[in-house]
Amino acid sequence: MMIPLFDDDTGLLILAGMVRYRLMPVCYVFWHGDLFEECHCLMDTSTRGVAMVPKVALDVLSCEVMRVLQLTDSCIVPIGYQVPRKVQEFHEDLYPDTVGTTPAMSAEEWWKGGNKQVEKVSLRPDKQHKPKAAPAKKKELASGGSKEVDIVSVCPSIKAPCLYQVTSHPAAPQDPARGCSTSSSPLSTPSSSAAASRSPSSTSGLSSELSLIQGPTSKFRHIQGAVTHRDTHITNLRGLNLTTPGESDGFCVNRHRVAVPLAISGGQIAICERSQPGRLPDTALPTIQNSVNVVDLSWDPFDAHRLAVAGDDAKIRVWQVPKGGLKDTLTEPEVLLQGHTEKIYSIAFHPLASGLLASSSYDLTVRLWNLENGEQVNLLTGHEDQIFCMAWSPDGKLLATLSKDGKVRIYDPRKSTAPVQEGPGPEGHRGARAVWVCEGKYLLVSGFDSRSERKLSLYSADSVSSGAVASTDIDTSPSTLIPFYDPDTGVVILSAKGETRVHIYEIVPEDPYFMECSSFNSPEPLKGFAFLPKSECNVRDVEIAVGLMLTKAAIEPVAFKVPRVKKEFFQDDVYTDTAVCWEPALTASAWLSGSNGQHKKISLKPKDMTPVSEAPKEAPVRKYLPSSVYLEEKTDEQKKEELLSAMVAKLGNIDDPLPQDSFEGVDEDEWVSGCDGNRSLDSNDGHLDIF
Ligand SMILES: *[C@@H]1O[C@H](CO)[C@@H](O)[C@H](O)[C@H]1NC(C)=O
Repeated sequence: MMIPLFDDDTGLLILAGMVRYRLMPVCYVFWHGDLFEECHCLMDTSTRGVAMVPKVALDVLSCEVMRVLQLTDSCIVPIGYQVPRKVQEFHEDLYPDTVGTTPAMSAEEWWKGGNKQVEKVSLRPDKQHKPKAAPAKKKELASGGSKEVDIVSVCPSIKAPCLYQVTSHPAAPQDPARGCSTSSSPLSTPSSSAAASRSPSSTSGLSSELSLIQGPTSKFRHIQGAVTHRDTHITNLRGLNLTTPGESDGFCVNRHRVAVPLAISGGQIAICERSQPGRLPDTALPTIQNSVNVVDLSWDPFDAHRLAVAGDDAKIRVWQVPKGGLKDTLTEPEVLLQGHTEKIYSIAFHPLASGLLASSSYDLTVRLWNLENGEQVNLLTGHEDQIFCMAWSPDGKLLATLSKDGKVRIYDPRKSTAPVQEGPGPEGHRGARAVWVCEGKYLLVSGFDSRSERKLSLYSADSVSSGAVASTDIDTSPSTLIPFYDPDTGVVILSAKGETRVHIYEIVPEDPYFMECSSFNSPEPLKGFAFLPKSECNVRDVEIAVGLMLTKAAIEPVAFKVPRVKKEFFQDDVYTDTAVCWEPALTASAWLSGSNGQHKKISLKPKDMTPVSEAPKEAPVRKYLPSSVYLEEKTDEQKKEELLSAMVAKLGNIDDPLPQDSFEGVDEDEWVSGCDGNRSLDSNDGHLDIF
């Protein structure tokens, strides 16, 4: 069931989900004329109830247009919705006068037939509480609502990611739940102490009614995926083969070009140059004629002209695209790799050694090939059924595979042809993918469970046999989620063929392991999604990943941005030095004879940008720490007292001093960063620093 909350002033409608067993996204919908503009944001835990905070309590200078309080099993979470505006000031267009709190008449007057409107008040910080009697103005506002076109890009922001866990304690003299219920504000919702008592009591040894838990939220949770400008699209792609096998990503990209299989006999492949975007001619383009159906294809990561293509004749053909792109049809491969006895599932280039390729086949073997001489250099055995995927470890030493036989396997190809580790993998038979995360510490597996639910699991790379360390359920869609992992941020972006929603998580090496971020919805079902090297990200726009999405007839870039306010600075907390993954660290022969390599790393900082960590402070900043840190230094008894008194004080004051009143003298730096979600607590956030 969805609970609707509607703000008449902005036309913003929030639908909050009441879902018991998994994180439920909150949807918010903007009513604009006849149009629903829909987005969604996330709540961190499942919802038991939601209520709207009175408009006068909003942080108008941060362009907060709505705030709801979410009741979960164990805490109350404030969720603010902000319109991203560059200038932090009172924006008249966002805040029409709002219904005040003084009653228009008494019950008696109404009973006698009276009809009066409650007077509207301005939300302007300097005019607070001064009711305006201007019925003419009201009209203007009604129509004014539809002007707020930019509200569509409202960025939801959880203003206080520190959650207070309320656990019931019958003997307590000041039951916080009761404390809440004395107020007539929406805070009175958590009257159900039954719900509270069901929550797992966290911090042991804490006898207080309140204990503090740090909300497990990702700093990338407001990540925004956006299709880039039309000028960058390649359109009018005709005759694509959109039924490539599940083991294949469907197409492949590098910085310079895209290769897409066509549905024309003879296994033809179209090559599109990224430097020549626009509408392709209606006439047939020159292609690569692979001569047999294409089952998988991959660009050599170290040679933007070299394309490896696996065919359904068990052979791999390696093609050389001429400089400047394909002018004539190619019919002769540069190298032909033969050895597999049955059709191939997928191929995977080594991440560090040049010219080293792995392939998996229906003959249930995995083979390694040296492209320099076209020779098979290794044959790995042990699979008992279909091989869903292969994934090289970031240090290039190990190769992980997932199979329909239900096992995760890790090979050390230079040591043994049998797996060096084996463990229970996803049970579902529909397919699975793997990617190494957290510097090779874990293997992230995307697959299905026995009930055909999509699931993400993390395996410790040292002990795959002990099964998954952590898992999270996604949903019940039938298509395998294909992960892309950005090692610099720990963000994994998961797309599926035939779907529009792209799921995003930050992966951390300790509990909670998976931190869900805002997802991206493509305007059309995806036929494929492939990512470009980090060097393609526009750091001035705080892009952390850029991918190309393949749709029915077009290729469109999608940039994933982290919303930041001070974009003129280089966001060095987001951009660590990145691996030069487009240059080989060693040759195939060196790797085969036992050497290992590492990519060199570079900074993405443009010369003319200053790191945000070195940004000059405009005014002295009031120092504050997340209250978790602050409270750690105190005894349980002290914590309890502080929290209780703060809570009671704030609750009592809900109608009195407005948070806006205290803005004076607050330096800009403080609340600017409140917007980008970096701060755990906003000290100037009025009563919200408690709830
Ligand atoms: C598309 O590719 C797949 C995999 O090679 C093949 O089985 C299928 O026949 C191709 N479709 C068309 C229409 O060529």
